[in-house]
Amino acid sequence: MTEKIRKAWGGRFRKAADRLLERFSASVHFDQKLWAQDIRGSIAHARMLGRQGIIDKTESEQLIQGLEQVGRELAKGEFVFDPAAEDIHMNIEKRLFEVVGEVAGKLHTGRSRNDQVATDLLLWMRDQTVEIRAALLGLRQTLIERAEQSIDVVLPGYTHLQRAQPVRLAHHWLAHASVLARDDGRVRDAAARMRHSPLGSGALAGTTLSLDRESTARELGFDAPTANSLDAVSSRDAALELLAALAIIMTHLSRLSEELVLWNTTEFGFIEMDDAFATGSSLMPQKKNPDVPELVRGKSGRVIGDLVSLLVTLKGLPLSYNRDLQEDKEPLFDAVETTTLSLEILSATLRTLRVNRERMAEAASDPMLLATDLAEYLVERGVAFREAHGIVGDIVRHAVDANTPLSALSRETLLGFHAALDIEPREFFAVERSLEARSLTGGPAREAVERTLESLKSDAAATAAEIEETRG
Ligand code: ARG
Repeated sequence: MTEKIRKAWGGRFRKAADRLLERFSASVHFDQKLWAQDIRGSIAHARMLGRQGIIDKTESEQLIQGLEQVGRELAKGEFVFDPAAEDIHMNIEKRLFEVVGEVAGKLHTGRSRNDQVATDLLLWMRDQTVEIRAALLGLRQTLIERAEQSIDVVLPGYTHLQRAQPVRLAHHWLAHASVLARDDGRVRDAAARMRHSPLGSGALAGTTLSLDRESTARELGFDAPTANSLDAVSSRDAALELLAALAIIMTHLSRLSEELVLWNTTEFGFIEMDDAFATGSSLMPQKKNPDVPELVRGKSGRVIGDLVSLLVTLKGLPLSYNRDLQEDKEPLFDAVETTTLSLEILSATLRTLRVNRERMAEAASDPMLLATDLAEYLVERGVAFREAHGIVGDIVRHAVDANTPLSALSRETLLGFHAALDIEPREFFAVERSLEARSLTGGPAREAVERTLESLKSDAAATAAEIEETRG
């Protein structure tokens, strides 16, 4: 019997599989990740077979108890995987034979590994979306906490990596928190399309046996069974969608990381990583390197590759199941693990880094960063913006030529450029005044930042409640 189960299709074949084929086609070294979902799905299937009278109630009970035992062995790490048994599904079934005997042969009634693996994968992804959302939330909350501590810290905002206009550091951290809140929405949306159970779709065309697909769907926490068996066994768009959401998250983490790397340079000197989250050089004793953000930036490329990999795997496949689909798992597993870990470590790195507020303030102190404010001052006095821009451009050139900061120009000089420029330059070119004048929605004024902070905090609390509820 073991020989028979070693190859579930043995009957039709005269020769055993070549060792090379076994090695080439085995997936148990990676799809063992699905063991818990596989046990869950098999228990639901066995229970339903009994309820439907397709197998005896006692047989159904034996299968369920056997599966529960195999599950315990897997949970304890006592399970011995056999690569010759190809994948996690066959490994579990093989062990089930050892545990409950011949009745194990009734489990696979009306089922194929095709609907089985599609079901396992959806269950696994559903579980993982909760963990990903939790990791995202962790980083969101860290950014929110850092923002709360840095309302009074001012730094230049950049365009083209050139100092542009001053902002509050809180504003900067909250920009990243806003991005992550949308990322969370994408993961939640992807999870919303993992709600239909493929179980009972068979190899591709269902079965002649009277399975109750509604009940297994319900038991496994799906909303309903899938509506088309061909679609059910061959579609992986839920995985694509999750991968796309992960690739976008990693792209965002990569941008944040790039900033941390820059800010950590001696040239910027804006931040210093905590020793626990920095690394040294094996050659240069003086070095302290930002390996965490560099690795996150580097790993983002791999996760983008994971998305592309599955897209390419799928694009040439006719309906329905093709073995190519086994290649869905490694990119998916890799992307989920990499993204979750990246979120967690970035959160810890951000939580512990030290901000050099003096360096930031100094970088933001150039009055040139407030040149636009001067143009807007003229706009408020009836000058067209384009004209005001030109006038201030002239003033800037004058200041550059005279090697004088804008704030040191005399009132008379400014009046010479436009009669409405009746200002006290030292007061006007104060960073705090400029920031507080930007009190519009979404702006960097204290009150505006605090409003954004409150709204992001309540979004995060809502996400926390959703995660709690899904886990519950
Ligand atoms: N390990 C396979 C997979 O991941 C299971 C399905 C095998 N089906 C088959 N027809 N060979 O897709």
